[in-house]
Amino acid sequence: MTSYEITDLVKRIDERGSLVVVESMRDIAFDVKRIYYIFDCKSSESRGFHAHRNLRQFAICLKGSCDFIMDNGKKRDEVHLDDPSKGITIEPWIWHEMHNLSDDCLLIVLASELYDESDYIRDYKTFIDEVNL
Ligand code: TYD
Repeated sequence: MTSYEITDLVKRIDERGSLVVVESMRDIAFDVKRIYYIFDCKSSESRGFHAHRNLRQFAICLKGSCDFIMDNGKKRDEVHLDDPSKGITIEPWIWHEMHNLSDDCLLIVLASELYDESDYIRDYKTFIDEVNL
Protein backbone atom coordinates (compact mmCIF):
# COMPACT_ATOMS: atom_id res chain seq x y z
CA MET A 1 0.00 0.00 0.00
CA THR A 2 1.48 3.31 -1.08
CA SER A 3 1.69 6.13 1.44
CA TYR A 4 1.02 8.99 -0.95
CA GLU A 5 -0.71 10.11 -4.12
CA ILE A 6 0.45 12.79 -6.54
CA THR A 7 -2.18 14.66 -8.56
CA ASP A 8 -1.29 16.30 -11.85
CA LEU A 9 -3.37 19.46 -12.04
CA VAL A 10 -4.29 20.91 -15.40
CA LYS A 11 -2.07 23.83 -16.39
CA ARG A 12 -3.86 26.41 -18.53
CA ILE A 13 -1.05 28.07 -20.41
CA ASP A 14 -1.43 30.99 -22.78
CA GLU A 15 0.70 33.94 -23.84
CA ARG A 16 -0.04 35.68 -20.52
CA GLY A 17 1.31 32.87 -18.38
CA SER A 18 -0.05 29.81 -16.58
CA LEU A 19 -3.10 29.20 -14.41
CA VAL A 20 -3.89 26.15 -12.28
CA VAL A 21 -7.23 25.47 -10.58
CA VAL A 22 -7.93 23.27 -7.55
CA GLU A 23 -11.63 22.62 -6.95
CA SER A 24 -13.11 20.83 -3.96
CA MET A 25 -14.65 17.45 -4.83
CA ARG A 26 -13.28 17.70 -8.36
CA ASP A 27 -9.50 17.89 -8.18
CA ILE A 28 -9.35 16.93 -4.52
CA ALA A 29 -11.65 14.56 -2.65
CA PHE A 30 -12.70 16.87 0.18
CA ASP A 31 -14.15 20.31 0.87
CA VAL A 32 -11.49 22.83 1.82
CA LYS A 33 -12.08 24.51 5.20
CA ARG A 34 -8.62 25.94 5.78
CA ILE A 35 -5.60 27.09 3.81
CA TYR A 36 -2.15 27.69 5.22
CA TYR A 37 1.19 28.35 3.62
CA ILE A 38 4.82 28.06 4.51
CA PHE A 39 7.49 30.43 3.23
CA ASP A 40 10.76 32.17 4.28
CA CYS A 41 12.12 28.67 4.73
CA LYS A 42 15.48 27.80 6.26
CA SER A 43 16.79 24.80 4.33
CA SER A 44 18.43 23.40 7.46
CA GLU A 45 15.09 23.39 9.28
CA SER A 46 12.78 20.48 8.56
CA ARG A 47 9.05 20.65 9.36
CA GLY A 48 6.07 18.40 9.86
CA PHE A 49 7.01 15.36 11.94
CA HIS A 50 3.42 14.46 12.69
CA ALA A 51 0.37 12.57 11.47
CA HIS A 52 -3.32 13.35 11.73
CA ARG A 53 -6.14 11.13 12.93
CA ASN A 54 -8.84 12.74 10.78
CA LEU A 55 -7.50 15.64 8.69
CA ARG A 56 -7.08 15.33 4.92
CA GLN A 57 -4.67 17.69 3.21
CA PHE A 58 -3.42 18.56 -0.26
CA ALA A 59 -0.05 20.31 -0.54
CA ILE A 60 1.35 22.15 -3.55
CA CYS A 61 4.85 23.54 -3.81
CA LEU A 62 3.99 26.79 -5.62
CA LYS A 63 7.60 27.97 -5.76
CA GLY A 64 11.00 26.44 -5.11
CA SER A 65 11.22 22.85 -3.96
CA CYS A 66 11.03 20.54 -0.98
CA ASP A 67 11.14 16.85 -0.14
CA PHE A 68 8.30 15.10 1.63
CA ILE A 69 8.78 11.95 3.67
CA MET A 70 5.50 10.03 3.63
CA ASP A 71 5.33 7.15 6.10
CA ASN A 72 2.31 4.89 6.59
CA GLY A 73 3.93 2.94 9.40
CA LYS A 74 5.09 0.18 7.06
CA LYS A 75 6.57 2.04 4.13
CA ARG A 76 8.51 5.28 4.06
CA ASP A 77 8.59 7.13 0.71
CA GLU A 78 10.44 10.28 -0.29
CA VAL A 79 8.72 12.61 -2.75
CA HIS A 80 10.39 15.63 -4.34
CA LEU A 81 8.01 18.52 -5.07
CA ASP A 82 9.11 21.32 -7.41
CA ASP A 83 6.15 21.88 -9.74
CA PRO A 84 3.15 24.15 -9.02
CA SER A 85 0.91 21.92 -11.11
CA LYS A 86 1.49 18.84 -8.92
CA GLY A 87 -0.13 18.28 -5.54
CA ILE A 88 0.44 15.64 -2.92
CA THR A 89 -2.48 14.26 -0.91
CA ILE A 90 -1.72 13.70 2.75
CA GLU A 91 -4.36 11.37 4.12
CA PRO A 92 -4.92 10.71 7.84
CA TRP A 93 -2.52 8.24 9.46
CA ILE A 94 0.42 9.28 7.30
CA TRP A 95 3.46 10.46 9.25
CA HIS A 96 4.91 13.26 7.14
CA GLU A 97 8.06 15.31 7.27
CA MET A 98 9.25 18.13 5.00
CA HIS A 99 12.97 18.42 4.37
CA ASN A 100 15.32 20.45 2.16
CA LEU A 101 12.90 23.35 1.75
CA SER A 102 14.59 25.73 -0.66
CA ASP A 103 15.08 29.37 0.41
CA ASP A 104 12.37 30.42 -2.05
CA CYS A 105 10.02 27.54 -1.21
CA LEU A 106 6.34 28.50 -1.03
CA LEU A 107 4.28 25.56 0.11
CA ILE A 108 0.50 25.91 0.23
CA VAL A 109 -1.68 23.38 2.03
CA LEU A 110 -5.43 22.94 1.56
CA ALA A 111 -7.02 21.24 4.55
CA SER A 112 -10.36 19.53 5.13
CA GLU A 113 -10.84 20.80 8.72
CA LEU A 114 -10.17 23.82 10.87
CA TYR A 115 -7.02 23.72 12.99
CA ASP A 116 -7.35 21.24 15.84
CA GLU A 117 -4.24 20.39 17.83
CA SER A 118 -5.98 17.32 19.32
CA ASP A 119 -6.03 15.77 15.82
CA TYR A 120 -2.21 15.73 15.72
CA ILE A 121 0.04 12.81 16.61
CA ARG A 122 3.42 14.43 17.14
CA ASP A 123 5.26 11.47 18.66
CA TYR A 124 6.51 8.83 16.19
CA LYS A 125 6.24 5.93 18.63
CA THR A 126 2.64 6.86 19.43
CA PHE A 127 1.95 7.01 15.68
CA ILE A 128 3.43 3.54 15.13
CA ASP A 129 1.48 2.11 18.09
CA GLU A 130 -1.83 3.68 16.94
CA VAL A 131 -1.46 3.02 13.20
CA ASN A 132 -0.84 -0.67 13.82
CA LEU A 133 -3.88 -1.12 16.10
P1 TYD B 1 3.45 23.31 12.98
O1 TYD B 1 2.43 22.25 13.15
O2 TYD B 1 4.67 23.24 13.86
O3 TYD B 1 3.92 23.39 11.45
P2 TYD B 1 4.53 22.20 10.53
O4 TYD B 1 3.40 21.32 10.18
O5 TYD B 1 5.08 22.89 9.34
O6 TYD B 1 5.57 21.50 11.33
O7 TYD B 1 2.75 24.73 13.15
C1 TYD B 1 3.47 25.90 13.51
C2 TYD B 1 2.61 26.72 14.46
O8 TYD B 1 1.46 27.19 13.80
C3 TYD B 1 2.15 25.92 15.66
O9 TYD B 1 2.20 26.77 16.79
C4 TYD B 1 0.71 25.60 15.35
C5 TYD B 1 0.28 26.78 14.50
N1 TYD B 1 -0.76 26.48 13.50
C6 TYD B 1 -2.00 27.09 13.63
O10 TYD B 1 -2.26 27.84 14.59
N2 TYD B 1 -2.95 26.84 12.70
C7 TYD B 1 -2.70 26.03 11.63
O11 TYD B 1 -3.60 25.83 10.77
C8 TYD B 1 -1.41 25.40 11.50
C9 TYD B 1 -1.10 24.48 10.36
C10 TYD B 1 -0.47 25.66 12.47
